[in-house]
Amino acid sequence: MKILGIESSCDDTSAALLQCSKSGCFVLRELTASQIDVHKKYGGVVPEIAGRMHAEKIIPLIEEVLKGKKPDAIAVASGPGLITGLIVGVEAARTLSAAWKVPLISVNHMAGHIHSVEIGKQKIEYPALAIIVSGGHTEIIKMTVEGKYIMIGATLDDAAGECFDKVAKLLKLPYPGGPQISKLASKGNNNAIKFPRPMLGSDDCNFSFAGLKTSALYYLRDNPKFNKADFCASFEQAIVDTLVGKMMRALKQFKPKTVILCGGVSANKKLRVTLRNAVAQTVNPKVDAARHYGAGCELLTPELKYCMDNAAMVARAGFELAKNKKYTDWKKLQADPNWELGR
Ligand code: KG4
Ligand code: ZN
Repeated sequence: MKILGIESSCDDTSAALLQCSKSGCFVLRELTASQIDVHKKYGGVVPEIAGRMHAEKIIPLIEEVLKGKKPDAIAVASGPGLITGLIVGVEAARTLSAAWKVPLISVNHMAGHIHSVEIGKQKIEYPALAIIVSGGHTEIIKMTVEGKYIMIGATLDDAAGECFDKVAKLLKLPYPGGPQISKLASKGNNNAIKFPRPMLGSDDCNFSFAGLKTSALYYLRDNPKFNKADFCASFEQAIVDTLVGKMMRALKQFKPKTVILCGGVSANKKLRVTLRNAVAQTVNPKVDAARHYGAGCELLTPELKYCMDNAAMVARAGFELAKNKKYTDWKKLQADPNWELGR
């Protein structure tokens, strides 16, 4: 079946057409209009501007992606996210569903990030454990079987991407700050500055990044002649150690077959490499050849172009629901900015 995906939950307007079947989901066409250049001027996303820009772009993008053909289903990210953006995507999807009499699929944006690893031939094997790290969220989700999501950990304050962005702002780097910090970090010493690894000792899968942000702020205040590359490398290492440490705790507990790292921050190379190495080390044939806490489980990450928000991941997650005909009546669909996956 051909699924049209629509994404407008933050600062990317995106439409994609995917061909989905049992053998995999493949992108036929995808177009994304990024608003970053506009929001950059304000140091972060301005919801009113985002809403207006989504409204200008959404129909031309959908038309361009469909090229006059009707899809078999429409999948739209209806939450969580900015209400000003979500309503644009949701209203476009509802209108097309009603006019074309095509089934509508309501997709959770975070489920979209998880299934971004399945664009193409990669397949999640269950039980699976996902860590979603983005600008608005840092969550660990357990999936016992296909379609069942259970949140086992989340941030108590700032998300990891938000922490990257806010500290980048202190360094006067442009928005979004994560990739900028990462670039500078590649030339620095990871151990130059001792930043805290928040909540790493706590016996749960929750995170807190506000304290790390504050210690970065105090370091900059107290060390005016600081080395930028060392600062970025040490700060990035603190985030990576915290994320990987918590994920490994969850892994030992739940013994998944697949481990998933996704969301915008999953584009971070140090994070990808460190988690991949940590997961590989769980294979300990001397202890238990078959299954020593998730031994031999596979780490799946999205292709770099599908780490950030995009409509292909929405269509891919929509296919999971379409397989079981879990459609939503266009008359009933509403944007839900606070829709939490697995709570
Ligand atoms: O998933 P996403 O595109 O949007 C949200 O749903 O939030 O994630 C955007 C976030 C931003 O905070 C950005 O700074 C961060 O992902 N990010 C990175 C990297 N690339 C993007 N953070 C660290 N390292 C990167 N290479
Ligand atoms: Zn996202």
